[in-house]
Amino acid sequence: MSEEIERYVIKGGNPLVGEVEIGGAKNAALAIVAASIMTDETVSIENMPDVRDTNVMLEAMQSIGVNVDRIDRHTVRINGSMVKNVNIDTESIRKIRASYYLMGALLGKYKRAEVPLPGGCDIGSRPIDQHVKGFRALGANVDIKGGIVKASAEKLVGAHIYMDVVTVGATINVMMAASMAEGKTIIENAAKEPHVVDVANFLNSMGANIKGAGTDVIRISGVSRLRKCTYSVIPDQIEAGTFMYAAAVTKGDVLIKNVIPKHLESISAKLLEIGCQIQEFDDSVRVAATKRLRPTQIKTLPYPGYPTDMQPQAGVALALSDGVSTITESIFENRFRYVDELVSMGANIRVEGNTAFIEGVESFTGAHIKAPDLRAGAALVIAGLAASGSTVIDDIYYIQRGYEDFDSKLRKLGAHIEVERVNGKVSREDFKVIS
Ligand code: EPZ
Repeated sequence: MSEEIERYVIKGGNPLVGEVEIGGAKNAALAIVAASIMTDETVSIENMPDVRDTNVMLEAMQSIGVNVDRIDRHTVRINGSMVKNVNIDTESIRKIRASYYLMGALLGKYKRAEVPLPGGCDIGSRPIDQHVKGFRALGANVDIKGGIVKASAEKLVGAHIYMDVVTVGATINVMMAASMAEGKTIIENAAKEPHVVDVANFLNSMGANIKGAGTDVIRISGVSRLRKCTYSVIPDQIEAGTFMYAAAVTKGDVLIKNVIPKHLESISAKLLEIGCQIQEFDDSVRVAATKRLRPTQIKTLPYPGYPTDMQPQAGVALALSDGVSTITESIFENRFRYVDELVSMGANIRVEGNTAFIEGVESFTGAHIKAPDLRAGAALVIAGLAASGSTVIDDIYYIQRGYEDFDSKLRKLGAHIEVERVNGKVSREDFKVIS
């Protein structure tokens, strides 16, 4: 079916120069809005990113009776006292993978949840066995049938849970449910990502008792009731990192504001290694590059290692570097789908298994390409900004899932990037999810 679709048209070659303001972290916000239904009181959340994924999540929550009051573009008030039922199966819930956070939140509060699993997925198989294992350890019966996860318990009781893999989603989900279980829960081999800490801080502001978030052992003493709070979401580490690479790849000079430099350390270290200048301030970081970038080796790892969500952006930088690099993707098996697009712009990259072998080229040339997923899409925009000539990027709704005002923020830095509306065929499958 033909409909009006949006695409980016980029004229490359301009170094990005100036200042950019980073918004709230999408992946923290998704979990925080889900967790806010765990109290009957009204929770106020500030620094909410206005991106498609968080908006779909809020819509999904409204569809089960949650009251969502938008105060302004970045502030939302949520009241979950009117949740109609815990059997959720609406179209909007299925659109977004992060809806699995409603499982932990509903199970914690109502001791029952029925949430459909989203369908296919773009970056890898993404099982939920560790979420299920955690809920079962807390005493819940969990069944997955016909794509629906049903969890219920007479009561949840704290437990000692060892995660078999380091997983952000399962750590957060189990942490939410355990916050309202009876007694103590210990999560070992927990994920340490900044958004795990942010969700723990949020739950603690609501009256939960969580200690150790940010280390690999999280201790939770369950409470029977959570209460209202006002909370501000942390800055988005991945949005910030994306602009850092945009500065580096275009040989620009950008001050990236409203960030927590500590969260960016693995990214800053790599950029330094490949020849960028980095200056850290209290809540901003400046990235400048004047010369051709140097090659390096990267392996994606859980935090504080190099993030998988910053892998495609690094791929673009290294594809223009002066030598041979490798990138090993150890978190998701399907995160090199930007490579074919980049090769059509002149890159020299070969992927074998989970490793990309990259031989740097001097320049890219503009091409008509498409965004295969959120971060890969953002990386290809950076490639277009560095390329000679024009680049057209289709399927930009992926990028809009996680970057607020991406094109206008880039334009303010001097980029030539426009959104063009054309009649075309939408290639997405509606339920494909990437978050
Ligand atoms: C979160 O996904 C993020 N999404 C992803 O952001 C991010 O790439 C990822 O964490 C890693 O940092 C949200 O926060 C909404 P995981 P999540 O559970 O929670 C395996 C973006 O671009 N695993 O940490 O789904 C899994 O297969 C994105 O914003 C199990 O084996 O990731 C993977 O190999 C996309 N069993 C590894 O753990 C499980 O039960 C890490 O996954 C769960 C996960």
